[in-house]
Amino acid sequence: MATDSEKTRRRYDRIAPFFDGLEGVLEGLFFSRWRKNLWSQARGPDILEVGVGTGKNFPLYPENVRITAIDFSPKMLEQARKKRDRRSIEVDLEQMDVESLCYADNSFDTVIATFVFCSVPKPKKGLQELYRVCKPGGQVLLLEHVLSSNKIMAALMKLMKPLVQSLFGADITRQTVKNVQACPFQKVQQLPGSSDMIKLIRAVK
Ligand SMILES: C[S@@+](CC[C@H](N)C(=O)[O-])C[C@H]1O[C@@H](n2cnc3c(N)ncnc32)[C@H](O)[C@@H]1O
Repeated sequence: MATDSEKTRRRYDRIAPFFDGLEGVLEGLFFSRWRKNLWSQARGPDILEVGVGTGKNFPLYPENVRITAIDFSPKMLEQARKKRDRRSIEVDLEQMDVESLCYADNSFDTVIATFVFCSVPKPKKGLQELYRVCKPGGQVLLLEHVLSSNKIMAALMKLMKPLVQSLFGADITRQTVKNVQACPFQKVQQLPGSSDMIKLIRAVK
C-alpha cells in the first residue's frame, strides 16, 4: 500500500503541469506580496529552499548567494528545471525528501520554504531537519497557511480538509507555528504581514 509520502508525491506529480495556472489568481492577489516580504529577509552566502515546487520564488532569489533547492516530486522539479533554464536562474535543483535531507548539520545560513509544511506528510520531522541543517545563528524562514484560531472557522476548515487535500495536496489544518516552537530554536517570531491564517515565521537557531 502507498505510504502518505508516496500519495503526496504522486498528487504533486499529477498537478505539476497545471500548478502555476491553478494558483494564478491567488498568486496575483495575495501570494506574491507575502513571498516578497519573506524573501527580503533571506541572507546568504548559503541558502536552501525546500519544496521549491515549480520555482515560483525564482524571481525573488537574492544576488551573490549560493542557492540549493529541493523537492520530492520529480514532475514539480521538471517544471522548475524548465523555468530555471529559460530564465538562467543560478540554483542547484535536487530531488529530496525534506524529512530526510542529505546535507551535513549546520550547512545553511537561511533555510526557507513557502507553502510547503501544509503538505509534508510528517511536518515535525521535516522541521527538525530544517533545524539540523541550519547554521547556529542562521535562520529558518517560512510562509505557511495555518488553522484559524477562530473556533467556527477552524471547524469549517476541518470539514473542508479532505476535499482541499485531494484537490491541491494541502492540509489546511496544520499548526505550523506550534510545530516550529517545538524545535529547539533560540527565537521564533511571526513577522509583520502575518495574520490569523497566514504566517510569516522567522526562527533563529
Ligand atoms: C504547495 S506546493 C508549494 C511549492 C512552492 N514552494 C511554492 O511556493 O509555490 C508544496 C511543494 O512541497 C513539496 N513537498 C511536499 N512534501 C515534501 C517533502 N516531504 N519533501 C520535499 N518536498 C515536499 C511538494 O512536492 C510541492 O512541490
